[in-house]
Amino acid sequence: MKRTLGIVFSFLLLFTACSSTTVQNSSSTEVASIPTPPGGVTALRDLAQKRGIAIGAAVDYNALQNEPQYAYVLGSEFNILTPENMMKFDATEPEPNVFNFVPADAIVKFAQQHHMLVRGHTLVWYNALPTWITSGTFSRDQLMAILKQHIMTEVSHYRSTVNIWDVVNEAIADNGSLRQSIWERVIGPDYLDMAFRWAHEANPQAHLFYNDYAGEGLGTKSDAIYNLVKGMLQRGVPIYGVGLQMHVSTRYYPSTQEVIANMQRLAALGLKVQITEMDVKTQDDPNPPAQRLQDEAQIYHAAMIACLAVKACEAFVMWGFTDKHSWIPIFTGHADAPLIFDTNYQPKPAFFALQQALK
Ligand code: XIL
Repeated sequence: MKRTLGIVFSFLLLFTACSSTTVQNSSSTEVASIPTPPGGVTALRDLAQKRGIAIGAAVDYNALQNEPQYAYVLGSEFNILTPENMMKFDATEPEPNVFNFVPADAIVKFAQQHHMLVRGHTLVWYNALPTWITSGTFSRDQLMAILKQHIMTEVSHYRSTVNIWDVVNEAIADNGSLRQSIWERVIGPDYLDMAFRWAHEANPQAHLFYNDYAGEGLGTKSDAIYNLVKGMLQRGVPIYGVGLQMHVSTRYYPSTQEVIANMQRLAALGLKVQITEMDVKTQDDPNPPAQRLQDEAQIYHAAMIACLAVKACEAFVMWGFTDKHSWIPIFTGHADAPLIFDTNYQPKPAFFALQQALK
């Protein structure tokens, strides 16, 4: 994969080098002034490409549509993206057998125009389900048919454009048991294997991931994830890798050594790993703001070092890039600054820490 990425990216260097530092303001003929790629001469994507990994962010569809500066930074600093919400079940199949790929198609088009890879997120999750699923009363066979059709339709739609899929998201509970969900309850634990087999059937080339949070270091949950994917491999299920979400905070984060050890044991099974949704909450940090930013930077740095230390770690993706559009303040109900650009699209210490780690 690293070699494949290398070949792809070498075609892109010229493109990136030609990036303009101004963009046309969509609402007028005035040319809005946009900062030079924030890191200065070398974008994160170029540094990452030299180290054989991809670097990216989740994409907020509305921001991408409405803010030229958002699109500019996204396209110039990163070479992989994940649609934050637009490929989820409720967005793509809002009514039975009625599919809507319009917003996700726009994001994929942006990725193609900027020579970025796309992480498809996510085919099977307990969350973001349309009400016709959550309030329906389906037999096991019916729900299997629904899930199969959903997966086959979505993966097929993106067969030539999306090569990475989070097939199943967050199926393990925090205590290591199989999380309760409509899929687990109606279909049973087999739903995971089925989902991977159907995704593979729709696109045999796709790299299929199991993705979860709080399983980055060592412990009950990461043991459960390890055992889950090991069992899948033993049963011949076409899983390619494990996504480590890495939603952490300046107070709670796994040590670099543990993350490396966890990545290595997954790699020893023959799997790849990617950091898929990193952000760093600072809201519980008792330190003054400037110190929080340093703590945050150090945690980003450590996570990047872990990824670079393990050959099987092929991508480093954050759950957004600007604090202006992070899900954390909405999700937690508290102000926060968990990403690497501030609300004015200025690079934070965490940005420079990533740059440093990649150099
Ligand atoms: C979050 C989005 O960021 C929010 O906008 C949405 O309201 C809820 O979902 N783990 C995941 C992501 O795998 O899909 C979640 O995204 C964040 C946690």
